[in-house]
Amino acid sequence: MIWTILLLVQGMLLLFVLVSKRSRSEKEPPLDKGVIPWLGHALEFGRDAAKFLNRMKVKHGDIFTVRVAGRYVTVLLDPSSYDAVIEDSVSLDFTRYAQVLMDRIFSLRIPHHNPAVEKALTKQYVPILITHSFLCGQPKNSCTCTLIRLTATRNQMFFSTCHSTTTYSPSLSLSLRAGYLTLFGGELNNNRTDPTNVYEEYRKFDNLLTKMARTTLKPEEKRTAQSVRGRLWELLAPAGLGEGSGSSPWLRDYRHLLQEEGVDEETQRRALLLQLWATQGNVGPAAFWLLGFLLTNPEAMRAVRREFSSISEQDSAQCPLLDRLQHTPVFDSALEETLRLSAAPFITREVVQEKTLQMANGHKYQLRRGDRVCLFPFISPQMDPEIHQEPQRFKYERFLNQDGSVKNDFFKGGRRLKYYTMPWGAGTNGCVGKRFAISSIRQFVYLVLSHLELELCDSEAQMPEVNTSRFGFGMLQPEGDLAIRYKPRHSH
Ligand code: HEM
Repeated sequence: MIWTILLLVQGMLLLFVLVSKRSRSEKEPPLDKGVIPWLGHALEFGRDAAKFLNRMKVKHGDIFTVRVAGRYVTVLLDPSSYDAVIEDSVSLDFTRYAQVLMDRIFSLRIPHHNPAVEKALTKQYVPILITHSFLCGQPKNSCTCTLIRLTATRNQMFFSTCHSTTTYSPSLSLSLRAGYLTLFGGELNNNRTDPTNVYEEYRKFDNLLTKMARTTLKPEEKRTAQSVRGRLWELLAPAGLGEGSGSSPWLRDYRHLLQEEGVDEETQRRALLLQLWATQGNVGPAAFWLLGFLLTNPEAMRAVRREFSSISEQDSAQCPLLDRLQHTPVFDSALEETLRLSAAPFITREVVQEKTLQMANGHKYQLRRGDRVCLFPFISPQMDPEIHQEPQRFKYERFLNQDGSVKNDFFKGGRRLKYYTMPWGAGTNGCVGKRFAISSIRQFVYLVLSHLELELCDSEAQMPEVNTSRFGFGMLQPEGDLAIRYKPRHSH
């Protein structure tokens, strides 16, 4: 027994020495292992990835490799070189790291799953989801009815008579419950699952998400995560099971696909939670940031209101913004600007075969098999002062030309950029739900602005700080909130 233990310890020590012995070859990017063995920079990375990566950028430039919890991650921060990563699905793999996260966060493994078929399914349904989307999800009901119905459910005072409230939770709650109704269940009584229950459990789950992804949950949090996940699996279990479930045809086909792949019931439920997160996780926070930026920038608010009211005057439809031909350039620019400031995903790929990465400036770097590559567009292009003047400021017209047309010429180092903001990723694995997400956010803001008079409780209030532990996980979340007063615009 003692010999086995000694051998194991010896083996681990050897492995440790081998792993930490890695040194840079001259063809590779600068290597920064950090001072802590094995962990490397993991703690700083997890606390505030934007701050850490900015520090590394100052130290090493636009490309470098860091050690993070035993893994080596090459970070690329030059948007002119992003295509070398995004367009290469031979040497760089999207699925492997996605599967690691699926397992850690959703406890989900689907052995014979075909992600390409799943993606094609979502792509095919996006136009249909848009017309059945969000607060207009029920063609038989008007937007107003759906809004009132949703907000009348318990614990929701957001749209009652004159009141004051914070902004984040109501935005998230309304957005998630409407999205849930649209995709998972057509009516409040979807198999007895009240969307409010789904929302409440989802918030608890989402609060632990980054720790689940990093496997840093404390024992108590682990127990909470397991039980919240279990409750969500139960709540979502009936969704997509035949027409009677009231779910969208997309979800029914998705469930059917899983069944055809031989995925058991239990795993199907876990996959449904993944879909809830993928379709809803970013939309609510995006709606919050946009509403917040409009509230704290009265000129932007006036411009968006003006654009919306000219559309509703021309259009007698119940949900005028559903028409894809409606142009809302001011709103689009305000949303683009919001996402520039608040979308901060890592675009991560696993190196599955050695690759020579050629940068736009001609430099070439070797990437090692087994490492990961990570783009962080939040630092550049999105917050890069060379590309966007005063990058910290919200300027609703940043993506508009003087004549009101869409502005898409942005430069860095004299070179016109293909990627000047990148909230949706890009290339082979770019977001397939982009149009559905934009349509949902637009509908949300339209409905809130057209039904409510709302103002800040403190007219000097600023946007809350961001929760720095969420860098890398899609839309950022606020650390504080914005207090508002509101009353109905018209009596319904
Ligand atoms: C504000 C809302 C959203 C944001 C900011 C967002 C952002 C992103 C980003 C950055 C990626 C690329 C990840 C990568 O390359 O590593 C992505 C992928 C994806 N998104 Fe979204 N997304 C949003 C909403 C949605 C919605 C509503 C859906 C579904 C209806 C969706 C479905 C997907 C899917 C399926 C992929 C993976 C594509 C693939 O497998 O190649 N997203 N999203």
